[in-house]
Amino acid sequence: MPVIVVTGLQWGDEGKGKMVDHLAESALAVARFSGGANAGHTVVVDGRKIVLHQIPCGIIRPGVIGIIGASCVVDPVSLISEIKITEEAGISIGGRLAISGKAHLVHPGYKFLEKADEEKRDASAVGTTGRGIGPTYTQKFMRMGIRLEDACIPSLIVEKADSVAKECADTLNLSSEDEERLQAETREFIEASQNLVEHAGDVSLIIQKILDNGKTLIAEGAQGSLLDPDHGTYPYVTCGSCIAGAAGLSLGFGPTRISEVVGILKAYTTRVGNGPFPTELTGSIGERIREQGNEYGATTGRPRRCGWFDGVLSRYTARINGSTWITLTLLDVLSGLDELKVCTRYELDPEIEASIFETGARLGKHTAEFETLPGWQEDIMGEQSWDSLPVNARNYVEFLEDLVGVHIKAVSTGPDRKDLIWRN
Ligand code: GDP
Ligand code: IMO
Ligand code: MG
Repeated sequence: MPVIVVTGLQWGDEGKGKMVDHLAESALAVARFSGGANAGHTVVVDGRKIVLHQIPCGIIRPGVIGIIGASCVVDPVSLISEIKITEEAGISIGGRLAISGKAHLVHPGYKFLEKADEEKRDASAVGTTGRGIGPTYTQKFMRMGIRLEDACIPSLIVEKADSVAKECADTLNLSSEDEERLQAETREFIEASQNLVEHAGDVSLIIQKILDNGKTLIAEGAQGSLLDPDHGTYPYVTCGSCIAGAAGLSLGFGPTRISEVVGILKAYTTRVGNGPFPTELTGSIGERIREQGNEYGATTGRPRRCGWFDGVLSRYTARINGSTWITLTLLDVLSGLDELKVCTRYELDPEIEASIFETGARLGKHTAEFETLPGWQEDIMGEQSWDSLPVNARNYVEFLEDLVGVHIKAVSTGPDRKDLIWRN
């Protein structure tokens, strides 16, 4: 009756979707426990690409139940549209999706608030996805939010949604054109919220039954640990907790239920949005990685910033998640580079592990120090056997494993479901 938690150990987009899809093969349910429509998780099956934002990736596997936890923020309009698109792609959702009634809803007014907030921050903008995530969590903790359970009572959702729309319009002093748009979007929000009610459920109870029946649940993390509001590069973070410890909190099970914590790491590093990135490559190598790895956001299409693997940060995030094993993804993207650099320490502070995250601001002041490893020229895309990898690729993986201090049990060599090497 295990729960397997999957989390990203960098700044998101590590390839969590691909690994969750793999693990879902032997699971009864897959549950998202953080974030919302800011996520974009890609699964490729026999060349066919599916990108999911709010629906858990397990839904692609026939018979697997998808669950959305209480700490997620649900955008009803885009979720209804995602359900439709997914069903049109031949994946029937039917009665396979359960959403916690406690999950907060993203009101369209929150997107207006977020846009104004980002504009006010100007040069120090977070670079959010613009999906209303931050204001929805803010309203939740202000005890003013709208939850899915509110949509069960038609008069209540209408009253709450109208009141939020009015407050946003007043706060932002919206033009009559924007106010009209917000009114129209509020009506859509109410309708979509009511349409989601059929999926509302007691997630904690559903999960208890799954586990008590000896079945497996995959807890699918979104974002990445360096975007976590407590442990990430604050203030350049998201607003929902996304490390492994948040899984039980959101899904309503205790920590004793977790048997494995799988950390996902890219063979290099990417980041979308602003904030410190000590190993960033701003020149031609960074561009090459971006093009070869198709590093453009699955949600916003923004080019991802690319850099070398950061061993200091990865060791830190593996620790705070309690990762029991790691999948290293996108190794194929590094083929063809003469040499590869890996950050092994930061210059300013040799005691870095203890002090780096006292404040996020200090991270940008540290200088990454690198070790250089020889690269490999062979194309390894789609490789499925460890022994067939070039020796330098194997040495690179083993070097990262020593640095992070956690076993790299799987290596991904391409976007497709089949492009995976299992090690012993
Ligand atoms: P997630 O948010 O962590 O699920 O990751 P995304 O889906 O946002 O981004 C990962 C991208 O890398 C997607 O386009 C995947 O199809 C792709 N991908 C995953 N694993 C591999 C791999 O091993 N090699 C290559 N070339 N692409 C991969
Ligand atoms: P997945 O699940 C990459 C980033 C945004 C921004 C910051 C705050 O696909 O890995 P937000 O809209 O959440 O308030 O933005 O967090 N961000 C992500 N970056 N992958 C994600 O999700 C992300 N979700 C949020 O780019 O820097
Ligand atoms: Mg993504």
